[in-house]
Amino acid sequence: MRPAEGQADIIFLMQVGGGTEQTQTMIDAARDGARIVLLSSVGARLFPLETNPIGAALAAREVLLRESGVDVTYLRPNTFASNSLWWLDGIRKGRVVDATGEGRTGVIDPEDIARVATTTLIEDGHVGKGYFLTGPEALTAREQVEIIASVTGRRIDYEGVTPGELAQAAIQRGTAPEQAHALERLNELLRAGRAGFVTDDVENITGTAPGTFRAWCERNADAFR
Ligand SMILES: NC(=O)c1ccc[n+]([C@@H]2O[C@H](COP(=O)([O-])OP(=O)(O)OC[C@H]3O[C@@H](n4cnc5c(N)ncnc54)[C@H](OP(=O)(O)O)[C@@H]3O)[C@@H](O)[C@H]2O)c1
Repeated sequence: MRPAEGQADIIFLMQVGGGTEQTQTMIDAARDGARIVLLSSVGARLFPLETNPIGAALAAREVLLRESGVDVTYLRPNTFASNSLWWLDGIRKGRVVDATGEGRTGVIDPEDIARVATTTLIEDGHVGKGYFLTGPEALTAREQVEIIASVTGRRIDYEGVTPGELAQAAIQRGTAPEQAHALERLNELLRAGRAGFVTDDVENITGTAPGTFRAWCERNADAFR
């Protein structure tokens, strides 16, 4: 039977922007027996959420879905390898400024997230499960910068600042204080190593080990030019 107009049987839900409005829209669009694979984040599980507004927003979406009664699979990736493109200006100037210090993160290639999403969308057995998706190694930002330097053949220095200093600089450049302070809290968690873990979930679900940060950089080297 075809779903009623505007409804769907299998949904991949990636939300951009804040709030839970998009979540509710997709719950409403899920017909009886439908399945949603949600792209959430490890941030949704970095407690306490009272002091982690970015994680709290992600967790609120998970709660809404859990309470909706729809069949959901929760994908919680760690830091995307592609986040390193946020450093592009710094990379081109030869100096990356970062506030995560010695905190490691199990940085993941977005293509591995896509592979997991595809598998969990088409395969049975994933409803109600939550997966923590990581790459094969936990790296500091400095180590990521060194890999980018090695792959691109550029000299790139790493400058460590505190989360508070980074937030103040962002506010001076025009970032809304609320947004800057939310990022400050997230950087504090990352700096404390709270995302510095790796899991076997990508390999267990897809049968193939996740790729390294270096492999992602080599595949995307042109993006750093
Ligand atoms: N970045 C991370 O480390 C991380 C970690 C865990 C989870 N996540 C989750 O992953 C998702 C993406 O995060 P991100 O950091 O990659 O965000 P992002 O940098 O803002 O990228 C969002 C992407 O979505 C596209 N997009 C925006 N609106 C769309 C729409 N209506 N239909 C189709 N595509 C649309 C954008 O395309 P355009 O560029 O053309 O606008 C862009 O490619 C978010 O839900 C986030 O919570 C991110």
